[in-house]
Amino acid sequence: MMESLEQLRAELAAAVAGAGDLAALEEARVAALGKKGRITGLMKTLGGLSPEERRDAGAALNALKDEISAAIDARRRELERAALDARLEAERVDITLPARPEPRGHLHPISQTIDELIAIFGDMGFSVAEGPDIEDDFHNFTALNFPPGHPAREMHDTFYLPEGEDGTPRLLRTHTSPVQVRTMMGQKPPIRVIIPGRTYRSDHDMTHTPMFHQVEGLVIDESTHMGHLKGCLIEFCRAFFGIDDLPLRFRPSFFPFTEPSAEVDIGCSRKGGELKIGNYGDWLEILGCGMVHPNVIRNCGLDPDRYQGFAFGMGIERIAMLKYGIPDLRTFFEADLRWLRHYGFAALDMPSMTHGLSR
Ligand code: PHE
Repeated sequence: MMESLEQLRAELAAAVAGAGDLAALEEARVAALGKKGRITGLMKTLGGLSPEERRDAGAALNALKDEISAAIDARRRELERAALDARLEAERVDITLPARPEPRGHLHPISQTIDELIAIFGDMGFSVAEGPDIEDDFHNFTALNFPPGHPAREMHDTFYLPEGEDGTPRLLRTHTSPVQVRTMMGQKPPIRVIIPGRTYRSDHDMTHTPMFHQVEGLVIDESTHMGHLKGCLIEFCRAFFGIDDLPLRFRPSFFPFTEPSAEVDIGCSRKGGELKIGNYGDWLEILGCGMVHPNVIRNCGLDPDRYQGFAFGMGIERIAMLKYGIPDLRTFFEADLRWLRHYGFAALDMPSMTHGLSR
């Protein structure tokens, strides 16, 4: 029996070592240790032996069984490691490849400028609000303290549309200020929003297009005053134009929805017919602003004895033209790809206060 055990050990060990995958290894295990396996079969013959023979043969068989079990476990680990290696190799991803070496599209200067506005005012704690392009008389004029028949309504060359189902006159909003009203009626103070969007006036020449963009700012709480308005706009203009000592001048003005009202000029130079922004002694108007009129606050359902704040509005094309040296307003809307390639911006560079507004 001992001789045949040596023979059996050699055969079983060879079968285990030769198993090329987990299925073959399982077959070898069943052939040796399964119910009808060869070691199991020999175990069953022990009962027919004399007690002495049984002791020796039993010990030898148990040792063989342990040895083959250990060999099977070791082979299984080997095969599993090899299978994992093969899988890792097959599913390998080369993360060193650039996603897109040269993006082909360009961001329009209007989109870029809006992203820059959001980065700057976002950093100051403003969020973005929006409203519809098609407005009614109430939001565009009445709630903003334009009295009926007041000449200020005519200042706005309004595009009127057919009346809505409820019989109220509709129009294309002439400024982003109606969203001040929607915001105050829709959320509780403290309010701190900017409102970028399209606006429309029936006007078309060198410096006017019937559709253009504005950004509105609105802050409403219980303590904001004119000093905050000035600080906020000085901070914005210096960040936007990237000029730390850019001077600003606040001139008294009139808007029905603010009191007091001001227009803001920034420093510039016009020497040699070339316009340059900076501390050069000359002035250029860029925006309108003021403290929100108590009538407007009341029209929006808030108590003007408790709430106060400021608003401002400016043309986005205008500040984009000044910052990026774009000479003709009308080119913004001609959809000329050569213009876009020249004045456009890389789509993957998001403006940020920490990484820069534009490059
Ligand atoms: N809505 C004004 C305009 O279109 C700008 C403005 C907004 C002025 C907010 C003051 C406050 O000219």
